[in-house]
Amino acid sequence: MLVLGLETSCDETGVALYDSERGLLADALFSQIDLHRVYGGVVPELASRDHVKRMLPLIRQVLAEAGRDAADIQAIAYTAGPGLVGALLVGASCAQALAFAWGVPAVGVHHMEGHLLAPMLEEQPPQFPFVALLVSGGHTQLVRVDGIGRYELLGESIDDAAGEAFDKTAKLMGLPYPGGPEIARLAEQGVAGRFKFPRPMTDRPGLEFSFSGLKTSALNAWQQCQQAGDLTEQTRCDIARGFQEAVVDTLTIKCQRALKQTGLNSLVIAGGVSANQALRQSLEQMLAGLKGRVFYARPRFCTDNGAMIAYAGCQRLLAGQHEGLAISVQARWPMDSLPPL
Ligand code: KG4
Ligand code: ZN
Repeated sequence: MLVLGLETSCDETGVALYDSERGLLADALFSQIDLHRVYGGVVPELASRDHVKRMLPLIRQVLAEAGRDAADIQAIAYTAGPGLVGALLVGASCAQALAFAWGVPAVGVHHMEGHLLAPMLEEQPPQFPFVALLVSGGHTQLVRVDGIGRYELLGESIDDAAGEAFDKTAKLMGLPYPGGPEIARLAEQGVAGRFKFPRPMTDRPGLEFSFSGLKTSALNAWQQCQQAGDLTEQTRCDIARGFQEAVVDTLTIKCQRALKQTGLNSLVIAGGVSANQALRQSLEQMLAGLKGRVFYARPRFCTDNGAMIAYAGCQRLLAGQHEGLAISVQARWPMDSLPPL
């Protein structure tokens, strides 16, 4: 089955063509980062308008790259939530209109299920069951995964998501949006151990996360250095390093706990923050001790993209799922409410 995947939940327009027999044929992305950067974060109205502009050219681009024609497309998958409603509606309306015009089915995909299944596009995909750490700009969740749609939420953030913590901390350090890659870049030059920030909620049992206090710790360190006249480039790098280490350590401790609790030794990390090299290294080290393995997608499939939506949608379409003609999206949508395959 040849599936066209459309992703428009936030500030990236992602389009891909996935073939259930031959794998990923083409994918294209337009990132709106430059559009939102001047505002220090995503402006929803601007995001929606830009998705409208980018969608059809990107669809033409992937068809050309794959050497396929619109008539070859057998189904359409689009992100139906969670995300920004206006942005989601652009993808949903476009998908439903094309599906109606071409006489093919359309399926709404859960954005986080898309992220979760992105490592399946790699050469050595994970096998069920596994524990998944979903770390994006909007979510930080630990999930036991027994199959597609068979999700048990083990724990999540009670406040900021991990990516959000990176973005907010970066902003108060005067770094551009999105902050995750910026902090990661500075942290590489930072001295380990100069700044030691808390590892929130690791001193008590449980699998919940709390990241909102970390940005305050980083801000305090930042202001103290400012007052002491020590706000050098090296200090910025050292604070970034301390912050990243606190997030990475906290995520590693909670993943280890989740693996112990479930008795599994296979871990999938997905979502924008799973592109972080320090996090990958720390989890790999931890899993080596458990004789297990960490799975993740190539960096451009960690952040938002159309390929993960085409893949996840294809699995649901193959199982016979699709939508009616109604165009409906959800800003909030618990992943464990999805039907199992
Ligand atoms: O999955 P994603 O593209 O969008 C959402 O669904 O939210 O994740 C975006 C988030 C942003 O917060 C961004 O700062 C973070 O992922 N991010 C990173 C890195 N690359 C992206 N955080 C830490 N290190 C990175 N290398
Ligand atoms: Zn995402």
